[in-house]
Amino acid sequence: MNKIKSGVYGLNALLDGGINENSATVVIGCSGAGKTTLATQFIRRGLEMGQEGIFVSLDENKEQIIKEAIQMGWKKIVDYIDEEKLVFIDASGHEFSAFIKKELPSFVADWKGANARISIDPLTPVMWSTSDRYEQRELIGFMLKETRKVGTVLATLEEHGMAGDLSGNETVIPMYLADCVIHLKSIHSPEGGLQRRLKILKCRSSRHSKTEHQYAIVKGLGIVVDPDNSSLMPSRDVPDKFRKVLEEKKGSIPNRVYLRLVEIMEDLRDDDFSDIKLDTLMREIIAEYQND
Ligand SMILES: Nc1ncnc2c1ncn2[C@@H]1O[C@H](COP(=O)(O)OP(=O)(O)OP(=O)(O)O)[C@@H](O)[C@H]1O
Ligand SMILES: [Mg+2]
Repeated sequence: MNKIKSGVYGLNALLDGGINENSATVVIGCSGAGKTTLATQFIRRGLEMGQEGIFVSLDENKEQIIKEAIQMGWKKIVDYIDEEKLVFIDASGHEFSAFIKKELPSFVADWKGANARISIDPLTPVMWSTSDRYEQRELIGFMLKETRKVGTVLATLEEHGMAGDLSGNETVIPMYLADCVIHLKSIHSPEGGLQRRLKILKCRSSRHSKTEHQYAIVKGLGIVVDPDNSSLMPSRDVPDKFRKVLEEKKGSIPNRVYLRLVEIMEDLRDDDFSDIKLDTLMREIIAEYQND
């Protein structure tokens, strides 16, 4: 899997090296969580590396996005627009939905062979362009499939209602269809402070972080994540321990299985075993092969 740098400080380590190339990422967060900031950082990083950028803005107009980007310390955004390396698509949910249905294939054909980064911010109005769940799924599925042909996509989603409740249609459908889902939790604490936590909910083909990480929005830098977390330390105590258990139980499993398990252990870390007890794992392996 080819990984590309997200442009968000501290995030790549949590995604097993970065975002998968030609994949679709969904970033979910409430108002003010930093979705537009993240979408901008993602595009900016690509432009720095010579990739094209397409910013589909469904909420704020182009001028507003540019203004905020400059305030965040990205003055060069103006040059990229002048040089036509960064393209803006300003649309309403209905307009963009019609664009997906009618014009997207020819747009993709025009951009054939491109290696772009595409930010869609936010995807929510596109979901709202129809109330039919099947149609919503078809629309978003088709859009992601097409856009992945010309680059790597990052779409943001608004989180409404109770913090952390991601069970509504408008979040569930894009979450299923995306390759990677990042949740930005921004909670006002009763003491008046703001707690910001980032969590990777899924990242296909990647050994990603499974815990929450503190993040900040810093003027001039954008989102900065603190990746430090004990579960991410590449500690190998558990696989080492399991190798010892395997040695003891060697006689209870076929030799080919024993050899394969020893080999597998070399590539694993403690956090790979966070959801399973070693005793249980060994017991079930023995049970699986007992009659071989
Ligand atoms: N110049 C700045 N310096 C520091 N922090 C900033 C600056 N500009 C914005 N922020 C922080 O970023 C937050 C807004 O981030 P952003 O616009 O990316 O959020 P969003 O998730 O897109 O919100 P919305 O859903 O309202 O569009 C602000 O609430 C503020 O905390
Ligand atoms: Mg925004």
